[in-house]
Amino acid sequence: MNHLLSQGLLLLLLIPLASAAALKESRSSTKPPLLLISLDGFRHDYLTLFANETPNMNRLAQIEGAYAARVKPAYMTKTAANHWTMVTGQHQEVHGVVNNQMFDPVFNETVDMFNTDDERWWNASEPIWLTAEASGLRAGVYRWPGGHVAIGGRLPTYLTPRTEKRGDKVAQSPELSAGLDRVLDWLTNGQARLVVAYHDEPDFTAHGQGPGAVGPVLAEIDAAIGRFLRQLQERGMQQRVNVIITSDHGMLPVNHNNTIRVNGRKHPATRAVLQMGVALGLFAKPNRSMELYSAMLEDIGKSGKSKMANVVHRRELPDHLHYKRHRRIPDILIMPVKGYQIADNNDTVWKLGMHGGEPDWDEMQVPLLAIGPAFVKGARTDSTAEQTDIYGLACRLIGLPARPHNGSDNGPLSSLLHNDGNLAQAELPLLLPLLLTVWKLMLNIS
Ligand SMILES: *[C@@H]1O[C@H](CO)[C@@H](O)[C@H](O)[C@H]1NC(C)=O
Ligand SMILES: *[C@@H]1O[C@H](CO)[C@@H](O)[C@H](O)[C@H]1NC(C)=O
Ligand SMILES: *[C@@H]1O[C@H](CO)[C@@H](O)[C@H](O)[C@H]1NC(C)=O
Ligand SMILES: *[C@@H]1O[C@H](CO)[C@@H](O)[C@H](O)[C@H]1NC(C)=O
Ligand SMILES: *[C@@H]1O[C@H](CO)[C@@H](O)[C@H](O)[C@H]1NC(C)=O
Ligand SMILES: *[C@@H]1O[C@H](CO)[C@@H](O)[C@H](O)[C@H]1NC(C)=O
Repeated sequence: MNHLLSQGLLLLLLIPLASAAALKESRSSTKPPLLLISLDGFRHDYLTLFANETPNMNRLAQIEGAYAARVKPAYMTKTAANHWTMVTGQHQEVHGVVNNQMFDPVFNETVDMFNTDDERWWNASEPIWLTAEASGLRAGVYRWPGGHVAIGGRLPTYLTPRTEKRGDKVAQSPELSAGLDRVLDWLTNGQARLVVAYHDEPDFTAHGQGPGAVGPVLAEIDAAIGRFLRQLQERGMQQRVNVIITSDHGMLPVNHNNTIRVNGRKHPATRAVLQMGVALGLFAKPNRSMELYSAMLEDIGKSGKSKMANVVHRRELPDHLHYKRHRRIPDILIMPVKGYQIADNNDTVWKLGMHGGEPDWDEMQVPLLAIGPAFVKGARTDSTAEQTDIYGLACRLIGLPARPHNGSDNGPLSSLLHNDGNLAQAELPLLLPLLLTVWKLMLNIS
């Protein structure tokens, strides 16, 4: 056998091995970065109802990117709780962030999750940014609930200070476009592999003015996102970063005249009362939950609106809500039908928009938009995805082994990915020189 030919054959044998190794290497170390954006209270049908205000997001959903029309949030449909599900993939009964305000019967304390640095409330599960950091990937957290909390002394590389959720008296939140400038800097100069970013609109506007009034604020959000995508394009980064845009929960029009009031806090069997969006949660003193349950049933009866609300003992909550097995879930939940709110005695309620409804309610569901090398341009699924699936998708996109969670890798979101989600287009250029070498060798041999 001629020397050159045998050398060539040897190379031919080695190349598949080398390219397999290169591919394996690229899976862990050269995955493109991921930016996960959450727009608080962005209901799934806003893109249709406010199509005129959202041209950039509609173009992303329908032409340039991939689109899941509905994601079903985890229950309780509240901001801190749903955001923790997105970054852990776990049901709330597992990760223990079960509302924005929580009572813990063991700590014997009530907390506002937007106003605490105390890790005890968050540390049952590890958020994706800390898992990323532990495996050597830089992560950034822009205003995401819980991001500022040092868990086991650990924080992400890039971080914004704690921002309290706006009450109706607090000033305008930072603009999304300025936030996205910061995020772009983390992704480029800072070489972050994962960034999660939170914006508190259109939730805030809809609470005060109703979901019908979010047009102007959606136009602002859409312009900021359009500008960000153009910046990626100008830097030639559109095929080098994956971007996902989704939300924690939707929004329901309510009428404060449809508020059903109970005397929970005053009852002698009560330990704590928490507003949970449209629902009300009550903790009973030890061994008195049945007594409290009966009292609340009676109060609802007296209101003359018993058809508009369900009083449910935690043990009786339907399994599909995955909202039973944590001590921070109230003993008694009073869950209204759509359009009604439950409140204690004279507590104030938001006037025109609220969430906290059940995940199956149409109004609680959110969309998911995505663009980047991992996603099929123009792909769309109308099957309802689960919010718990976002975590596994995010881990897969950045090449991170997922921790135990409750999502599935084969849900509707997986249909948005290129067939081999692991071999994204961005990695093809790495393989091209190898393929060319093989081709040249074959020419030499023949
Ligand atoms: C819980 O705290 C309250 C005061 O906030 C106190 O009155 C009560 O005795 C405490 N309960 C327990 C079980 O420690
Ligand atoms: C959570 O934090 C508290 C207080 O620092 C600590 O006692 C507890 O062991 C931590 N739990 C986990 C699961 O890390
Ligand atoms: C609530 O009821 C009051 C008094 O009947 C009425 O003036 C007001 O318009 C109602 N509000 C809404 C949002 O329907
Ligand atoms: C609650 O009831 C159980 C048995 O039903 C009893 O062992 C326990 O002592 C009671 N606890 C209190 C605080 O009354
Ligand atoms: C509710 O009633 C209490 C007295 O029972 C009063 O101190 C409080 O100001 C009232 N709150 C509102 C929001 O009206
Ligand atoms: C959710 O995930 C946790 C952690 O892996 C697991 O312990 C729990 O059993 C799961 N729950 C369900 C309903 O599968």
